[in-house]
Order: sequence, then structure tokens, then C-alpha cells
Amino acid sequence: MVTRDTTVDRLDPDQISANLKTKRVGRKVLVYRSTSSTNDVAARYGRNRENDGLAVFAEEQTAGRGRAGSRWQSGKGDSILCSIVLAGSVPHHHLLSLACAVAVAEAIGPAGAARHAKIKWPNDIMLDGKKVAGILVESKAGRDGGFCVVGIGINCHQRADSFAQELREIATSIDVESHSTTDRISLARRLLTCLDHWLEVAQKSSKEVIDRWSELSVQLGQRTALIFNGVKFTGHCVGIDPEKGLILRLDSGGVRMFDAAHTTVAK
Ligand code: BTN
Repeated sequence: MVTRDTTVDRLDPDQISANLKTKRVGRKVLVYRSTSSTNDVAARYGRNRENDGLAVFAEEQTAGRGRAGSRWQSGKGDSILCSIVLAGSVPHHHLLSLACAVAVAEAIGPAGAARHAKIKWPNDIMLDGKKVAGILVESKAGRDGGFCVVGIGINCHQRADSFAQELREIATSIDVESHSTTDRISLARRLLTCLDHWLEVAQKSSKEVIDRWSELSVQLGQRTALIFNGVKFTGHCVGIDPEKGLILRLDSGGVRMFDAAHTTVAK
């Protein structure tokens, strides 16, 4: 894997926080040069409710993880690797996950000729049909109640050949799509701002989140194939439920909801 000179746009907690207009997310910002997984660091801080809104960034993870037990790899300084502690009130897990997907897609926005970043349920963020970011929401037990950690990985400076051979057809970075060099500090600030906004919206109205999610979804209105508990289902995606998951009108008849915990999107 090619590594970059990380002094070019090194993440700096003061620059990320300067005049940040957020109420909750990014109230405190930590940046690690290297850590196992920002989700693990955030989980340690999350046991103390005073750390609600803490944002943990890292230039490098030695044990980054993705959904369904997968690994999340990135060269040093190539990505935004960030985890947010939510130790106060949080919306239902699925609605939280939808709100975070909307926030990450909006933070990335359009990139060069690639249209606005889109959402592939449950939590992949896509640019021009390729995955540019992923989100891992983990629920944890704490001393004074449970809390959540929202982990986000956004590919920024990777070149096409930075990705492992088997990922090159399906993964991309903002630099590749925009033909320019992403300013990670600005992106980190937009990310915290968008997360703060959409978490607040989600606390008040699931409808607003669902409406924006629907505009950004690559699957809504499309034919979709899902694997649920090892069984393949095909149909048209007709909606999303804030608590229960993706809604499909099945080719075999009837309408059925699929929850993210037991479902993967078929290749
Ligand atoms: C996925 O698409 O599978 C989710 C990927 C989530 C990766 C991020 S990187 C920051 C945080 N720390 C981790 O170990 N994982 C998340």
C-alpha cells in the first residue's frame, strides 16, 4: 500500500474545532497519529457521559473494522477515520444509522464530474457507483446506561491502485472522482457539522430523515436483490422504515421489510 506525506494536510484538532458551529458533535476533538480503531478509543471515552459528542480522528488504524466483521484498511493519512461518542439520547439504532448516512453523503457532496454522493443501504456511501465511505454504528453498555459509537471511514487520497485488486472495481476515493486533492480538514469540519445537524433532526422527526435519505438512495425505486439469513430475495425497493429497515415489493408477491443486522445486499 502506498503511504503519503501526512504533513501535507495533517489532521489537527485545533483546526478541526476552530469556530465549529455544532451543538453536540465535535464538542471535543481528539486526533491520534495511529491507533488500533477509533471506534475502540471512542468506546473507552463513551463510558463517561460527559464525553457525549466527542469526535476521535486518526491518521492510521492498525485494526480498523467494517460491518459484518470485515477489515477496514487505509494507508496513513489517506482517509478521514473518525468515531463519534453518543452518550446522551439517541434515536432508534436504524434511524440513527440512516441519519448518519445522510450526513456523510451531504458532507462529501458532489466530487468533480461525479454527482452528489449517494447512499446504498444500509451504510455505504457511493460516488459514481463506487463505495467512497462506510459507517459502522456500535451500541455499547456503559456504567450509567448504554451509549453508541458512530465510526466513519471516508476514502480521500487513495489512488485507484491504492486499493487491493479485489476492491478496485467497487471502491473509490474523493481525489480519484474529483481529480483534485481533498482538503481533509475542511471535510472533517463539514462531517461534524452535518452529523450534528442530522442527529438533531432525527431526534425530532424521522420523516425529514427518511425524505432526505430517499432522495439520496441509489436503491429506492430500483430492482434490488438482498440476502436475508442466507436466503436470496429479489424485488423493487419501495421505501425505508425508520425502525425496521428496507422495504421490498417482492417478485414472489407481497411486501417485506429487511433489517440491516441480518441482511446483505447481493452482488
Ligand atoms: C463499512 O462500510 O464496513 C463500515 C466501515 C467503517 C470504518 C470506520 S473507520 C473509523 C472507524 N473505526 C473503525 O475501526 N471502523 C470505523
